[in-house]
Amino acid sequence: MAEPVLNILGISGSLRKASYNTAALRACASLLPSGMKLSFADIGDLPMYNQDVFDSGIPAPVRRFEAELRAADAVLIASPEYNFSIPPVLKNAIDWVSKLPNQPWQDKPAAIFSASQGPMGGARVQYDLRKVLGQLWCHILPKPEVFIGAAQTKIDARGQITDETTRKFLTDLLAGFKPWILRMKAKA
Ligand SMILES: Cc1cc2nc3c(=O)[nH]c(=O)nc-3n(C[C@H](O)[C@H](O)[C@H](O)COP(=O)(O)O)c2cc1C
Repeated sequence: MAEPVLNILGISGSLRKASYNTAALRACASLLPSGMKLSFADIGDLPMYNQDVFDSGIPAPVRRFEAELRAADAVLIASPEYNFSIPPVLKNAIDWVSKLPNQPWQDKPAAIFSASQGPMGGARVQYDLRKVLGQLWCHILPKPEVFIGAAQTKIDARGQITDETTRKFLTDLLAGFKPWILRMKAKA
């Protein structure tokens, strides 16, 4: 019998076309273990969260993101660090759906990594993501942690990962992610 496919929703915390995080996230599609499929969310068109907007009707882009999140078996987030923390576009997307009834982060398995042009690879954003998503009962894979420092030397202008060590780190992350998803789904 064919192995059931785990659908992973990829979310990038960067909107820019030449984003290293988006490039590395897209590259993950070819590094996945068998039985996993990666699609990509677009969170750039969500309006800024405003309770008044929420009360007058959930905007269509929020509904679309909510549906993608609910349909996904798990979430893979690649994000830059902005001033030691979560970029507003990503925090905004997290916040919008967190306010919906039966909020969709609940019991969602997730894995995160970060890329930065600085030497630390955006390490600090990961701990803020763990804090924020953890209190929404989203289950983030504890290890391995992947920080892509000096990303401009490891990902080329075409968005290809040119650094073998980086490919290996991401491959290991995704290999660990699969049993984590199955384990978290079994407990949910
Ligand atoms: C507002 C802002 C704040 C930033 N703060 C940090 C930071 O705290 N740590 C860091 O490593 N890089 C920081 N950077 C630099 C980003 O790591 C760099 O721009 C990176 O390429 C962004 O990711 P992207 O290529 O996926 O867009 C910051 C960039 C911006 C625009």
